[in-house]
Amino acid sequence: MHIASVGVTKSCFLLSLASCGLLLLLIPALQPPARQAELPQPRRHAAPPHTPELRRPANRTLSGGDAPPQRAGPREQLEGRDLFIAVKTTRKYHKSRLELLIQTWVSRAKEQTYIFTDGDDQELRLRTGVNIINTNCSAAHTRQALCCKMSVEYDKFIESQRKWFCHVDDDNYVVLPSLLRLLSSYHHSQDVYLGRPSLDHPIEAAERVKSDGSVSVRFWFATGGAGFCISRGLALKMSPWASLGNFISTAEKLRLPDDCTVGYIIEALLEVPLTHTHLFHSHLENLQKLPADGVLQQVTLSYGGFDNRRNVVSLQGAFSLTEDPTRFRSVHCLLYPHTEWCPQSRAPSGP
Ligand SMILES: *[C@@H]1O[C@H](CO)[C@@H](O)[C@H](O)[C@H]1NC(C)=O
Ligand SMILES: *[C@@H]1O[C@H](CO)[C@@H](O)[C@H](O)[C@H]1NC(C)=O
Repeated sequence: MHIASVGVTKSCFLLSLASCGLLLLLIPALQPPARQAELPQPRRHAAPPHTPELRRPANRTLSGGDAPPQRAGPREQLEGRDLFIAVKTTRKYHKSRLELLIQTWVSRAKEQTYIFTDGDDQELRLRTGVNIINTNCSAAHTRQALCCKMSVEYDKFIESQRKWFCHVDDDNYVVLPSLLRLLSSYHHSQDVYLGRPSLDHPIEAAERVKSDGSVSVRFWFATGGAGFCISRGLALKMSPWASLGNFISTAEKLRLPDDCTVGYIIEALLEVPLTHTHLFHSHLENLQKLPADGVLQQVTLSYGGFDNRRNVVSLQGAFSLTEDPTRFRSVHCLLYPHTEWCPQSRAPSGP
């Protein structure tokens, strides 16, 4: 009797081992193919109770004109002036990177875009009328200097009274209609942290804020190079660890870069999960993989830069790759064909 039951248990165990193995083999095959243009995915683990409905159908065309999208739960019609878009740069990139942004998407969002840099540029400010903030942080590309800038960005956002904080880098194109559409599916008083993880697993760090570093903590963070957004409701809760220079000391305790520290404060301290989205893009991805017909639906784009010039979004645009190596000007002319420097004759015809 006893022996028999052991035998049964043993074969059950073997059977379940075998089916687990089979399942493991099947998992990759069961997963739907990754689609870059889709709306943000809820977290893979433990869906947060307040994850807003993410499946709101996107407008078919960016120019609108469709019936208002259906969605339950709090959402909010947003305008450009509800946003605070922080662009992080450094003095040496004012000419090579910033000018391109100012010529393209920033020109459509001058009021709500703030350039955070480390040197004065009165000439650029006067000529273009953009908001340039000299953080007085070091121009070195060190953790301390980057955290110093993030700290100033945070304080300026809080001061601004605007509804959403979005941080991007100086090699990001922000597709403003997509950004507004995405953020409009939430309410700024909710706790929302939106962005793209650069890793496929949470990062693990020694807990040196709440304890002495003998225990570790695991959390997701949105990679700064793709841009991320934080609702005002959540940003206010970050204040004890982020305002008035506290961000720098939090990052110093953890010895983590700026974007990781943001993730730590939000996920580990405030226990608000990152909403993963594939609509944000950094130069670390293979940007050529983005389907050409989905490029304008993305929220941020980037380009490969110095060491990887060919890593750009592929799309048929107004300019050749030689005329427009980053593709940002072509993207811009597809979004805003009436821009004076867009070649009208080569602009695509309407939908
Ligand atoms: C989406 O469609 C709605 C309803 O027509 C419109 O108000 C809104 O501006 C559109 N959004 C974009 C990003 O075009
Ligand atoms: C940087 O320093 C200048 C000159 O002292 C000052 O006017 C400015 O407010 C400082 N910037 C920030 C962000 O504190």
